[in-house]
Amino acid sequence: MKKLMLWIGGVLSLFASEGAELFDTHCASCHSYYIPMSKVIENAEQNNTILHLKAPTLNQLSFGVRLNVGDRKADEESQRMEVEEFIATYIASPEREKSVIPQELTHFYQDMPSMQDLLDEDQIEALSTYIFDYGEDMIQKHSAKIHTYEEAVKLAKEQNKIIMIRGVLPFCKWCIKMDREVMVEPEVRDALDKGFVVVKTNVVTEKLPLGMKSLGTPSFYFINSDGVTIIDQLNGYGNKKEFLELLKGIQSKAK
Ligand code: HEC
Repeated sequence: MKKLMLWIGGVLSLFASEGAELFDTHCASCHSYYIPMSKVIENAEQNNTILHLKAPTLNQLSFGVRLNVGDRKADEESQRMEVEEFIATYIASPEREKSVIPQELTHFYQDMPSMQDLLDEDQIEALSTYIFDYGEDMIQKHSAKIHTYEEAVKLAKEQNKIIMIRGVLPFCKWCIKMDREVMVEPEVRDALDKGFVVVKTNVVTEKLPLGMKSLGTPSFYFINSDGVTIIDQLNGYGNKKEFLELLKGIQSKAK
């Protein structure tokens, strides 16, 4: 059994690296790898005069398909299939009307050339899996680590940090926006790493600790390092500046 698991693991990672290679060979000449959304948005506001990109970045493609192709409230497997269909159609016949990225972020690009018959079905599947997963991988890589609540209680005590629970839902647009545009910012990550232990809780399927009730999404619940004292609970979206101010406020309240 163990051998079989290893074998399956091997096939999966081969598949993932095939997607990465295909992207590198056929797409990366125009579509850049990860650039933080704050930079991408600033660049778009200046009509692409800062970064001089040729096309949307890979994380933009990934974010666009995740948010706007198929039903993200349905199960992930069926959304993955719809994304594969979308990518197959787009590279065969790119048309702006099918675009899944906000127009204000793409209007300054030239049209993408058709790449019909370049890739076979298996290759498109591997490529599309890679694109689908890339954005979430980048969020994980650039954000503070997410812990289970049990881990967080232990770490908070050991390191004298505040527990921050993020109340989220998979289809909450503003939670996704916070993940993509705020949590990945280096200053935010640093502030969280220094003073907080982060937990993510689905407010519908999971229970909040200490008898707290969900405040909808996005919401934030701060608990002292003792694991029992609630410092504050609030909901809403904040940009980088607002969120950093919130964290500072919570830290002075906790003292
Ligand atoms: C010669 C440059 C070039 C290459 C190579 C290229 N693209 Fe593009 N692509 C663009 C440009 C420019 C746009 C934005 C304008 C448009 O959609 O026509 C774009 C848009 C897209 C979009 C739609 C984004 C949206 O707005 O919804 C997808 C999906 C996409 N590309 C996938 C790919 C994939 C996958 C590959 C590799 C197989 C690839 N592209 C290769 C230039 C390129």
